[in-house]
Amino acid sequence: VTTPLAIALVGAGLIGRVHLERLDASPDCACAAICDPTDAAKVLATERNLPWFPSPREMLAAMRLDGAIIATPNALHVPNAIDCLEAGVPVLVEKPLAESVAAAQRLVDAQARTGIPVLAGHHRRHNPIVKAARRLVRDGRLGRLVAVNALFLIRKPDDYFDVAWRKQAGGGPVLINLIHDIDNLRFICGEIDSVQAMTSNATRGFAVEDTAALIFRFANGALGTATVSDVTPAPWSWELSSGENKAYPQRDGHCYLIAGSEGSLSLPKLDLWSYEGKPGWWEPLRQETLSVEPVEPLAEQVRHFCAVIRGTEQPITNAADAARTLAVVEAVAEAARSGSMVAVAGQPRAQAA
Ligand SMILES: NC(=O)c1ccc[n+]([C@@H]2O[C@H](COP(=O)([O-])OP(=O)(O)OC[C@H]3O[C@@H](n4cnc5c(N)ncnc54)[C@H](O)[C@@H]3O)[C@@H](O)[C@H]2O)c1
Repeated sequence: VTTPLAIALVGAGLIGRVHLERLDASPDCACAAICDPTDAAKVLATERNLPWFPSPREMLAAMRLDGAIIATPNALHVPNAIDCLEAGVPVLVEKPLAESVAAAQRLVDAQARTGIPVLAGHHRRHNPIVKAARRLVRDGRLGRLVAVNALFLIRKPDDYFDVAWRKQAGGGPVLINLIHDIDNLRFICGEIDSVQAMTSNATRGFAVEDTAALIFRFANGALGTATVSDVTPAPWSWELSSGENKAYPQRDGHCYLIAGSEGSLSLPKLDLWSYEGKPGWWEPLRQETLSVEPVEPLAEQVRHFCAVIRGTEQPITNAADAARTLAVVEAVAEAARSGSMVAVAGQPRAQAA
């Protein structure tokens, strides 16, 4: 019998409390401490009879831990994670890995220096739909990748904007939501090396964009587009179509179209299109739908984190890899600002997963 791993929760806010439920449900680990300076977090720790700490340093000095989940505001991810790594404690860091590529590089360096694992919280990678799509592309079932189209078309509720920062630059769909889609596309289709983008705030009229259109080039030569808007009653987003997060009512719809020279694939339904015989637009196109057993990604992420801590699995998204996703998102923001094509910079030095 293996002893459950002792995992600390650093940042017991909205997503932190969801992680807490997943820790509770896991046979591999248990929450061992709550670290968050708020009174609400102190109450939560008291209710659960768990030690409470106002800062990671105090916690790390006081107790032995097997791992920590960092679910604090973006700008604290890197300092909180580095404190843990320096104390020899593996971390699961929420996305985005950092508030900037420069900060992310500090975490990549700290990981390399300490040798302690970092798993980034790009939880969609744990979805079997995403894993199956990656396998199909990698196995060459689509042939050479030609073109990719991603959609994040959705309607945020009006009261979402009661929080001031969401109306300002940096609080919109490009930096907050698109990062999930960019990470999915990188994981499934490969590295993105340059981007162009246009944004618009014409519908809501806030300083932040409500709509964006992107063009990008993958390192393997495929071209991609993404259309993003948070002002439209549409079913074409991972959120509404994948069934991953039950808070969103589910509708049939697709959000990624992946086209190759020998076949094409739509997600999340995993419809695979190809020609049985001679290819050509007069010929009948064959449709197969792959089925996968649904898995709840945040629960699978906790299982995987425990396996990473025990050294039996390598992080599905390590620090360098998550820093590359962030670099693409930064390049999109820069491309929209400048109106020029932007090469994805800040290629972190440590090897990617
Ligand atoms: N994977 C996802 O889909 C997903 C979803 C939501 C949020 N997130 C990410 O999770 C992070 C947290 O988001 P949230 O919505 O839960 O925010 P939140 O504001 O609800 O929670 C953050 C918590 O961190 C605490 N905190 C602040 N300073 C701290 C410190 N020094 N030490 C310990 N705790 C501290 C705050 O008191 C708060 O309780 C963000 O990086 C966000 O991008 C990811």
